[in-house]
Amino acid sequence: MSGEVSFLKPSASNPATSPTLTDELKASVQYKTAEVLALLKAASNELGSITFANSFGAEDMVLTDIILKNQLPIEIFSLDTGRLPVETYDLIAKTEQHYNTKLNVYFPQAQAVEFYVKNHGINAFYESIDLRKSCCHMRKVEPLQRALSDKQAWITGMRAAQATTRTSLPVSEYDAGNKLEKFNPLSDWSESEVWAYIRLNNVPYNALHDQFYPSIGCAPCTRAIAMGEDIRAGRWWWEDPTSKECGLHVK
Ligand code: ADX
Ligand code: SF4
Repeated sequence: MSGEVSFLKPSASNPATSPTLTDELKASVQYKTAEVLALLKAASNELGSITFANSFGAEDMVLTDIILKNQLPIEIFSLDTGRLPVETYDLIAKTEQHYNTKLNVYFPQAQAVEFYVKNHGINAFYESIDLRKSCCHMRKVEPLQRALSDKQAWITGMRAAQATTRTSLPVSEYDAGNKLEKFNPLSDWSESEVWAYIRLNNVPYNALHDQFYPSIGCAPCTRAIAMGEDIRAGRWWWEDPTSKECGLHVK
């Protein structure tokens, strides 16, 4: 498990429960934001068609803000699995309104979903890791492959401190599975820095973050965490932490 301890209630709007904006924290956010901007500018100059995978989690809202405020030539896409929480759909609409933009949304293949549900059941992902992974493959990985098919690089909002599976996450790597460059610009950001950025820039964020959900995926596979629990403890909570990846980020 990652050693990172979550906030009681990581609210960007509630000063009592969000990180205190010390001068040190503000300076590190400012410095790291400049680094991210420089990286994204260099990548888009050198690589041409780049796309950002936006799940609308807190980290992804930081990157969304940096990309859209600086009008970087980077496409933004999301994978709508069909099982997202209503709060995530609300945030998609709010984000489009806030930045006056239209985002690209990829859906799973309807026939694949119908086949899976008919053969295994509507909530079969609870029954075994194989059925959970095949649901993630059908609803996330296959649409991701389509989203990346004509791209030279993609960007994620992953951080090294999020999970045991991500401790050695580089800022830049070659994604051999998808055959393109991959950037994780927030790799060395802390959870406090993410929330400080959100507060300092009035970035919209998912209402579930104020209800003890530091990490948000599909509704049936995400739940709130208890005090002191790992930040990804609410994702696929019935599984061992070492299996908690959905296939989007395999080596
Ligand atoms: S997951 O792989 O376990 O679901 P997590 O929720 O931590 O990952 O997200 C890690 C990164 O994967 C996000 O920052 C984002 O770049 C990408 N990602 C995850 N889910 C989606 C989604 N539904 N749509 C687009 N990108 C996503
Ligand atoms: Fe299916 Fe759950 Fe994976 Fe979403 S997170 S694609 S509902 S198994």
